[in-house]
Amino acid sequence: MEGTNSLTRTRLALQFLKGSKRFFVLGILLASINSIIELVIPRVISFTVDSVIGTKDPDLPKWILSWLNSIGGAEYLRRQLWIVAVIVVSLAVCAALCSFSQRVSNATGAETLVKRMRDMIFRHIEHLPFAWHMKNQTGDIIQRCTSDVDTVKRFLAEQLPSLFRVALLLIMGMIFMIRINLTLSLVAIFTLPIVSLYSAVFHKKIGAQFQKVDENEGVLSTICQENLTGVRVVRAFGREKYECERFGKQNNIFTNLNIRLTKLMSAFWCVGDLITGMQRMLIIVLGSYICVKGRMTAGEFIAFISYNTILTWPIRMLGRMVSEMSKAGISFDRILYIMRSPMEQDKPDALEPDMNKDISFEHVSFQYLPDVPVVKDVSFTIPAGSVFGILGNTGSGKSTIMYLLDRLYELPPEQGRITIGGVDVADMKASWVRKNIGIVLQEPFLFSRTIAENISIGRNKLDMRDVRKASATACLDEAIENFTQGYDTFVGERGVTMSGGQKQRTAIARMLMQNAPILVFDDSLSAVDAETDAKIRHALKENMHGATMILISHRITTLMQADRILVLDNGQVAELGTHQELMENNGIYRRVYDIQMAPEELEA
Ligand SMILES: Nc1ncnc2c1ncn2[C@@H]1O[C@H](COP(=O)(O)OP(=O)(O)OP(=O)(O)O)[C@@H](O)[C@H]1O
Ligand SMILES: [Mg+2]
Repeated sequence: MEGTNSLTRTRLALQFLKGSKRFFVLGILLASINSIIELVIPRVISFTVDSVIGTKDPDLPKWILSWLNSIGGAEYLRRQLWIVAVIVVSLAVCAALCSFSQRVSNATGAETLVKRMRDMIFRHIEHLPFAWHMKNQTGDIIQRCTSDVDTVKRFLAEQLPSLFRVALLLIMGMIFMIRINLTLSLVAIFTLPIVSLYSAVFHKKIGAQFQKVDENEGVLSTICQENLTGVRVVRAFGREKYECERFGKQNNIFTNLNIRLTKLMSAFWCVGDLITGMQRMLIIVLGSYICVKGRMTAGEFIAFISYNTILTWPIRMLGRMVSEMSKAGISFDRILYIMRSPMEQDKPDALEPDMNKDISFEHVSFQYLPDVPVVKDVSFTIPAGSVFGILGNTGSGKSTIMYLLDRLYELPPEQGRITIGGVDVADMKASWVRKNIGIVLQEPFLFSRTIAENISIGRNKLDMRDVRKASATACLDEAIENFTQGYDTFVGERGVTMSGGQKQRTAIARMLMQNAPILVFDDSLSAVDAETDAKIRHALKENMHGATMILISHRITTLMQADRILVLDNGQVAELGTHQELMENNGIYRRVYDIQMAPEELEA
């Protein structure tokens, strides 16, 4: 399991890195050059101290020696000390240039990388099944897409390239040090495994803590998001204080976790400081002794201390990398969770049959959660072109049945069949099913765009003639005329707030633009008055002839003119027939009819 996990992680990382790898490679190359220059400077200084100021024979690579001799040897440099200064300054300038270009290259790579990550994650989320979206919390998903992406970016863009630099500095630095003095080098290197071991232990401990912090940040985001979208409910029920307390509590948990994390990190850095401090002290004492004994020159000692300082950085970086790595690992797994969730997929050779046919439910059973059946062995047929009504108390499974028809939830094959013209919807292309079944969902959602854009959301081009026609059928045109900017009025968060009935009618108009042969209205006329309800139904009948219409409603007047009416009771078919037949049946339908038609008598 672990193996496949790491494989997928790598594969995903490689997918994310596509297009930005070359920037990172260039960055690594420049960082390496920078490190080499950094390592050469102490050599120049030790040479200057020992062979230019002092009289020791220069210990330099052959090609440099022959150049030195050609200009007159160390003697010449002693008279022209400025040359050494120019060499050191030039090296420093080169290092600075490399450092600059490396930063630019890494940053470009990072931005390209994060853009690709965002694009890929968004595209994936867009193709995840409806059921997945229902199961996962929006705030948490948003956090995975923002904060976690950022953490991974930081690691891939900053830490990973540094890893190469650290490795180079460590290896080259050690070689230079060993060449100066083996004993002293062994003492310096001695601390390495201690720090590494310490890092590994810490790595384990901090990982769990980071995960906790991340999860709790997700909870906090969810509370925020819910309170922002559900602001009306909060106000209506006077829940401000309760919600503030809930937020405060979670904020407290999050803060405490962060403080604990900081404490852990501080302890890590402190112990790291202590180890390196002790190591430095040891080197100075031992180095001085070796110098006094004459086994090392002053220049070499200075160079050695410089190398040791240079080496301390990567050792310390190792610690930071470890913590960043564990953090990035957790964030990466959280992104991986999204990317691993299977996208909605059609069967191979999925069909696109004629949809203007009879719809048939055959022994359909469904449950969202194990052992909680919601739809139980439901069978019925809706003849093509007819108006079909569905009545049933809340929670009886009406919306669920429509979700199944539209393939928003997949019906497991052993739990019945839903066919249109004899073809199982499961064998069709999901996009084909949805294109041909227009659904007005029970809770219509409008985007923060203009009314016209909201209505024509399913189309690539805005055709105002069609928009007006659909609005007229949905009896929305009058309402729109009352807005000062008409169809160009912004709705939602950035604009006017529509009434419940206006929203429902906008959703109806939007669905009508689809020109689908099957139209489903899931309680879509509940928020309009009975008169408008009748007007809309009349307009629909006039304009949508030939379409199969499924009306879900709690209102008998909405349903009574349907060709056939299905009564659902607790997920089961209780009654099925025309208004007349159901009235004579004396069952649920009749009871609801009596309650709705003569409320005064009943109350009396
Ligand atoms: N995503 C879900 N996960 C778990 N249970 C669910 C889910 N969606 C709906 N349910 C449950 O399934 C049952 C049927 O829900 P459904 O929305 O189909 O009822 P409905 O007949 O449309 O009710 P209403 O008239 O109130 O719209 C309910 O008990 C509901 O709690
Ligand atoms: Mg419903």
